[in-house]
Amino acid sequence: MVARLTRREFLYALAAVGGAGAALGTLEIWDLVTPAAEYQVPFDPPRKSDFSMRGRGNDTTVLILGAGIAGLTAAYELEKAGYRCRILEARLRPGGRNWTVRRGSTDTDLDGVEQIARFSEDLYMNAGPARIPQHHTTLEYCRELGVPIEPFTNVNADAYYFNEEDGRFSGGLTGRTVRQRAVKADYVGYTSELLAKVVNQGALDAELSPADREAMIEFLRAVGALGPDDRYLGSGRRGYRNPPGAGNRPGVVSPPFDLSDLLAAGFGHYFPFELEWDQAMMMFQPVGGMDRLPYALARALEGEIVYSAEVRSINSTDEGVEVIYTRDGRNGIQVRADYAVCTIPPRILARINSTFTPELKRGLASVTTIPTAKMGLEFRRRFWEEDDQIFGGITNTNLDIGTIWYPSSGFLSKRGILIGYYNYFDQALSYDELSPTERIERAIAQGGKVHGDVYAREFETGFSAQWNRIKYSEGGWALWADRGENYRLLTQPQGRVYFAGDHLSYVTSWQHGAFESARQAVTDLHQRVLSA
Ligand code: FAD
Ligand code: ALA
Repeated sequence: MVARLTRREFLYALAAVGGAGAALGTLEIWDLVTPAAEYQVPFDPPRKSDFSMRGRGNDTTVLILGAGIAGLTAAYELEKAGYRCRILEARLRPGGRNWTVRRGSTDTDLDGVEQIARFSEDLYMNAGPARIPQHHTTLEYCRELGVPIEPFTNVNADAYYFNEEDGRFSGGLTGRTVRQRAVKADYVGYTSELLAKVVNQGALDAELSPADREAMIEFLRAVGALGPDDRYLGSGRRGYRNPPGAGNRPGVVSPPFDLSDLLAAGFGHYFPFELEWDQAMMMFQPVGGMDRLPYALARALEGEIVYSAEVRSINSTDEGVEVIYTRDGRNGIQVRADYAVCTIPPRILARINSTFTPELKRGLASVTTIPTAKMGLEFRRRFWEEDDQIFGGITNTNLDIGTIWYPSSGFLSKRGILIGYYNYFDQALSYDELSPTERIERAIAQGGKVHGDVYAREFETGFSAQWNRIKYSEGGWALWADRGENYRLLTQPQGRVYFAGDHLSYVTSWQHGAFESARQAVTDLHQRVLSA
């Protein structure tokens, strides 16, 4: 009798003999991956037919620990094949670090300091994730779950740079608010002029053929907006002193900055950001707040999410997994399942009683995370749109606020929430030490250096998310010095407990990593159940 293979078994078998390349080639033949396979790792979710083809159904139970993106995704994908999942989540909401702060949102930090968000109705701040690159799996789930998205403006030529004079930066452009478009036009103009000079002098003849040279000069003239004699004299790209208009108003281009001033001010340090794989436009956000995504996942689940359930102990035996949790003042609530998928952040997990090996516990405890923080500031008037003509995007500074983000929605409306700081490491830690009110005061004072008095005048209310101090997170995201032995150890199941979370991916700090990691854990668990 010829055994019939499922699609997955066929692909596994093919990969075993022909390597991943052979499997990928076949996927292409089956039209399972698009020509954009460079962006996407194919995922074949568990399905009920995987069991029926073996003549049995699926009555396997799985406990999911944590209802962040990884935990919700693990449950969602496992349920497709009939696994019965129950999620234990310490917070009162799904999403974990995916947290949208709205009017009435509260936080009690690790020291017991409380904040209540007093933002206007319909305004929100994405305290954790805020932007999604086009190629991230995150958008696949938005599509599958019907979560509408809209563009997120990660780069806006009309947003500002502001660098104060410090040990690194100096010169006439420090302490000044300058448009990004002017800085970029001048940097590109001057560097094009310099390179054109070198090429025209024949200094690169060893590298460039005569045809290359000609093409290079043509390119530099275009990209740098070079004038006569291949000199950079400024251009309308950088903006106008008097903008062009009707009648006899052709516009007066603003004169270029001095090259030495530009270099000394260090604005060029900001340029690589928008070229990054994960930060290049187009980028997206769910309409109405990033938490639309975890709420959609939670709604799509059949199994229960037990909120306010803080896991205290995890015991894996040959027969199953036993978890003890507390809930609403009740201790020692016990629950069992055949398997577990644990997505609790590693450093927190290390402190939970478990049957994990001492090596794993040490490994979990050793994962370091980045201190990071965000401040939402509501203003009574969208002065950045009305006065500055900035509609979305990000201002970069060397102040301790890091960046100022302008909202990518609600354009032309009355009020709005800016991200008044999004910073990391020492800058974030320096705000950790302040009270919520002091943080606002400092953020307003710092932002005022960029935007002037209007910043304090139009301010209404603020809310800070200091991720190192936030219960059940205690940090931004994992920082791996290398993905060596410890990383490998943490990605392996312990007994019947599988692990997932963005920290177990090469894409930490992105929901994509959490989705991909959950898919990996689900695939591994499913294979084990199928082969049992
Ligand atoms: P988590 O969301 O941390 O989930 C873990 C869950 O475990 C939580 O729900 C937690 O409450 C729960 N838990 C903890 N302890 C217990 C316990 N004892 N018992 C039960 N449950 C427990 N990603 C993007 O895609 N785009 C961005 O722009 C972006 N920006 C970010 C900015 C910031 C400031 C931060 C902090 C993160 C950002 N990220 C971004 C990353 C993104 O938030 C994460 O990759 C993703 O949310 C991680 O999901 P997770 O399920 O792995 O972890
Ligand atoms: N992924 C995080 C962000 O884009 C770091 O802000």
